[in-house]
Amino acid sequence: VVTPVILAGGSGTRLWPLSRKSYPKQFVPLLGEQTLFRSVVARLSGEGEGFAFARPVVLTNATFRFIVAEQLAQEDTDPRAIIIEPSVRNTAPAILAAALHLSASDPEAMMLVAPSDHVVPDAEAFRAAVSQGLAAARSGDLVTFGIQPTRPETGYGYLQVVARPDGSGQPIKLARFMEKPNAARAQEMLASGDHLWNAGIFLFAARDLIAAFEKHAPDVLAAVRPAVDSAEGDLGFLRLAAEAWDAAPDISIDYAIMERADNLSVVPYDSGWSDLGGWDAVWSHAGPDAAGVTVSGEATAIDCSDTLLRSDSEGMELVGIGLNNIIAVAMNDAVLIADKSRSQDVKLAVEALKEKG
Ligand code: GDD
Ligand code: MG
Repeated sequence: VVTPVILAGGSGTRLWPLSRKSYPKQFVPLLGEQTLFRSVVARLSGEGEGFAFARPVVLTNATFRFIVAEQLAQEDTDPRAIIIEPSVRNTAPAILAAALHLSASDPEAMMLVAPSDHVVPDAEAFRAAVSQGLAAARSGDLVTFGIQPTRPETGYGYLQVVARPDGSGQPIKLARFMEKPNAARAQEMLASGDHLWNAGIFLFAARDLIAAFEKHAPDVLAAVRPAVDSAEGDLGFLRLAAEAWDAAPDISIDYAIMERADNLSVVPYDSGWSDLGGWDAVWSHAGPDAAGVTVSGEATAIDCSDTLLRSDSEGMELVGIGLNNIIAVAMNDAVLIADKSRSQDVKLAVEALKEKG
């Protein structure tokens, strides 16, 4: 069995005003009716060749815990645990907490770590990729999933493979993992032909991950172990002990472990993956028409090009005329209008509003 470990603690400020502090993007219907959180729960259930998914562990914070519980129930999923992080400490402490929790009752536990804000349309192909990675994970590797890069993206991790993917989907050893390179490095890695993007999904034995922390990030382990050991049940949630937890360094798994470990491999994945990090990604994922226009909800585009118009407010009509390269998103209480090439700056809106109070 493989236990899904779902990360659902992010705040997704670049998708404001749809994504809110108290109700971030993974929990709202961003594409179609199902939320991204519900679709990852559904994807990581059932069986693949040679394995079955166990009940999931979800990591989140106190604010989102009831949303998580409700959306799990909507998927008829009884979680193994909903772990509450007392403060935001990034993915390394969160994933380690899940590993320690699982290995306490099952020293052989295998985990599939997945974010809850990605789109992976082909669940069956994804389960087949997990099954391809199992032997490597069982023999002690930390397994990543690699996407063929298409642009010099600086917001992703890059995986340098020792041999090019041959289309079989078999895992390949990694020569190196590089998180969020600068633009020049990203360009080089794209051109090299021997790098894949890190999908942000990981497969490993809980035991091997803990060993990696012992070796590469003992300071994280020193804080997280007591936080897990003294965790308390709370209305069906597992609340990590705050005092120990708050001392954990704020660091992602990519920097804490993946850039330092030498037992990495990658399963190449080419059946569709998208990190809906900003409105430009939503625009392109939703399949713009020939003029490059994506319209959703009660919105109408007249003579527009390369534009996203979206009204999520019932009864509010949004009409764009002659727009080019624009993102316009209307909600009941907020409207965003931005240059599409500034999609990554939408977090500035959230900061500006926070300052206004
Ligand atoms: N529970 C919990 N707690 N979840 C968290 C926390 C936390 O403190 N911080 C982040 N997450 C969740 C986010 O919501 C997201 O689903 C996932 O963990 C990854 O965090 P991001 O902050 O979105 O990471 P990133 O996009 O910058 O980079 C990662 O993903 C890329 C692919 O999308 C890295 O793994 C990159 O290497 C990778 O290319
Ligand atoms: Mg991300």
